Amino acid sequence: MVVVANRLPVDQVTEPDGTTRYQRSPGGLVTALEPFVAGRGGAWVGWSGAAGDAPEPFESGGMHLVPVPLSEEEVDRYYEGFSNASLWPLYHDVVEKPEYHRTWWDTYVQVNKRFADRAAEVAAEGAIVWVHDYQLQLVPAMLRQRRPDLTIGFFLHIPFPPYELFTQLPWRSAIIEGLLGADLIGFQQPAGATNFVNLARRLHDLPTKGSTVSYDGRTVTAKAFPISIDVTAFDELASSPEVLARAAEIREELGQPEKIVLGVDRLDYTKGIAVRLEAFQELLEDGVIEAPATTFVQVATPSRERVEHYVTMRETIEQQVGHINGLYGSIAGSAVRYFNQSMPREELAAMYRAADVMLVTPYRDGMNLVAKEYVAARGDLGGVLVLSEFAGAAAELKQALLVNPHDIDGVKKQLVRALRMDPAEGAKRMRAMRRHVAKHDLDHWASSFFESLQAQV
Ligand code: ADP
Ligand code: G6P
Repeated sequence: MVVVANRLPVDQVTEPDGTTRYQRSPGGLVTALEPFVAGRGGAWVGWSGAAGDAPEPFESGGMHLVPVPLSEEEVDRYYEGFSNASLWPLYHDVVEKPEYHRTWWDTYVQVNKRFADRAAEVAAEGAIVWVHDYQLQLVPAMLRQRRPDLTIGFFLHIPFPPYELFTQLPWRSAIIEGLLGADLIGFQQPAGATNFVNLARRLHDLPTKGSTVSYDGRTVTAKAFPISIDVTAFDELASSPEVLARAAEIREELGQPEKIVLGVDRLDYTKGIAVRLEAFQELLEDGVIEAPATTFVQVATPSRERVEHYVTMRETIEQQVGHINGLYGSIAGSAVRYFNQSMPREELAAMYRAADVMLVTPYRDGMNLVAKEYVAARGDLGGVLVLSEFAGAAAELKQALLVNPHDIDGVKKQLVRALRMDPAEGAKRMRAMRRHVAKHDLDHWASSFFESLQAQV
């Protein structure tokens, strides 16, 4: 099996002295796919995260990694431009306005061809190739043209928009045709699959039946496969003596607050970080909570730092944090502890374990694995999850306190409810969510996708 994704699971980083090293790549796609590919010893075709020549293929963590090069201009137009300033906002309910540029599109086509070429070289006769995410939507059709012997699966990690939004895209038909090169197209939610089938019918006049589209003499299936994490591994990590000791140390280093509220995200405008800060600030203003007795810890991994909307949102968040701490911090401690850093998995697990309330408030999110990690980490049945209705995870984690991130009063109300929740009720909710994720873990996701793919061909 060959996995094709924009990113490899590791990023190449150049140190100030010119030496290079590899570190884990950011984001949910890598979190989910890495244990799956490593467990099977598969090949992974992807970009190393740095512009310029690609390193030779190499082995890492039980995987055969095949780097694809991107030039500076391609990073600018294909990755930062078309992928992250056109498709990302368009597919996330136009939370920010997408920009459409012909040069960006031309480069997207060019880079998708390169990924298809590389995958075609690497895949054995009759192999399964699994293409991932919005950066590579043209690869399925390009690959089928080069290698009709392959079985091709595609999985979209982010939401797939309805007809009314998708048709903004000047190159909408090409994207649908690109995806139709796959035998099976996986989405996070049933709505994404339905949107795709509707588009195939309305835009291309193709015959559709239920979840299938007839195209070019083949049947293509579009179905939901909600992604998950390696729940057992994360649960074990979070209950290891080292992580538990670190969780206690974190509470101590924070000055033993009565309550710790936590947010963990890539620094992305879809995640609703400003909403959380606003709700927290208003509760301090209203005198409903006090700092640092209640402390808010926000960890935000730097992400897509040259894309304009990301630059402005970072400034906004940093101003908001400074403003809250200026008003409500004291010598005893800050109200908000903000980290614009990536943290090791062990440290994140310890934070999840130390946090009384986990705030996950995206305006739109394909799944949100942070929410599932928090549940997997709470083997002690402690902690309360406050979760946006607009995260894919809300369809599964029904015992979370659900919020509409556009409704500040509603977010405040649920945050207070979470802070005051009776531990017995919290444990009951957590137990139910843990039961769900234990069954619907990464293996369940991957095996249901593969069973459907095999049934298809
Ligand atoms: P997305 O894929 O949009 O980034 P997810 O919530 O699905 O969102 O996945 C994010 C992944 O990145 C999770 O596995 C989470 O643990 C990880 N992550 C988020 N913030 C950090 C951080 N500051 N340091 C390290 N890992 C992080
Ligand atoms: C989300 C996307 C992934 C992406 C990740 C990190 O999870 O679905 O495709 O890899 O974010 O973003 P980045 O732009 O750093 O790869």
